[in-house]
Amino acid sequence: MDRNLALELVRVTEAAALACGRWVGKGNKEAADDAAVNAMRKTLETVGISGTVVIGEGEMDEAPMLYIGEKVGNGAHTEVDIAVDPLEGTSICAKGMNGAIATIALAPKGGFLHAPDMYMEKIAVGPGARGAIDINAPATVNLKNVAVAKGCRVEDLTVVILDRPRHDKTVKELRKAGARIHLISDGDVAPAIAAAVEGSGVDLMMGIGGAPEGVLAATALRCMGGDMQARLVFLNQEERDRARAMGIDDFDRIYRAEDLARGEVVFAATGVTNGDLLRGVRYFSGGASTHSIVMRSRTRTVRFIETRHFFDFKPRLDQAPATQETPCPAKTF
Ligand code: FBP
Repeated sequence: MDRNLALELVRVTEAAALACGRWVGKGNKEAADDAAVNAMRKTLETVGISGTVVIGEGEMDEAPMLYIGEKVGNGAHTEVDIAVDPLEGTSICAKGMNGAIATIALAPKGGFLHAPDMYMEKIAVGPGARGAIDINAPATVNLKNVAVAKGCRVEDLTVVILDRPRHDKTVKELRKAGARIHLISDGDVAPAIAAAVEGSGVDLMMGIGGAPEGVLAATALRCMGGDMQARLVFLNQEERDRARAMGIDDFDRIYRAEDLARGEVVFAATGVTNGDLLRGVRYFSGGASTHSIVMRSRTRTVRFIETRHFFDFKPRLDQAPATQETPCPAKTF
């Protein structure tokens, strides 16, 4: 896969983040998501690939753009599968809370698990704790093993977990073991990646979240040498039927990052709001700055990119919602 593709992908996530960044805190998650999807779809047209969306906004009849099976890219000969989440954390963006990102991942054809839109149990760590996790073991055992691997005490570890009633028992157990906990209201992709970033303050991400999000996180962790285990969580027979239709027949299978995202993969994300992994979009007179991460599994090079965008020169990146626009007041002192 052409290494320049990685940088092309950052342009795509930057455009999505800049578009939904204008909707931060406006209480309209649908509009924020639409803005991100539109911008991502448009920018993808310029990327040198023949891509097929395998993880996207939904089935063709429920999503007008970036639906599963949609062909994207400029038609160049590199055939790839694409996983996207133009706005991961729609509610946190709408509320102006921490942790929303725009993200995309690429794999060779057939490289991604075609994850149905259902739940997945996940546990993710960085390279320092590779081999120390076991999704079948109690949380306390995982904490102890990660602490040993990282040469620290359980009390030094920070675990990120979605704030949901389904996690009450695990949270109780984690607290009893002495770990620090960061409960998040949404957005479990960024903290899974943060666990693999030295100095991010995150050591583990665990709990049940979305399966498509699990594939995106696994792609990033593969690029960073991190570790992840995951298992689909079926709520009813209809979900089992849906999974079977997508080619999944072992319902108890434990997936590792390497099973969720196979072959040479590329991952990019841009912060929409501030988080442990990335800073959010910041606007200034005439432009905005974005903070992104981009990486490839082949070289494991991880780049953090701070970009300054100037709307006078690239007006299409300025996605201010027409009805909400408030001109910057003139300086009076
Ligand atoms: P959005 O669809 O609003 O972007 O939410 C994403 C997310 O918080 C994921 O990060 C997480 O995996 C999943 O939803 C959790 O689902 P639920 O809100 O049903 O617990």
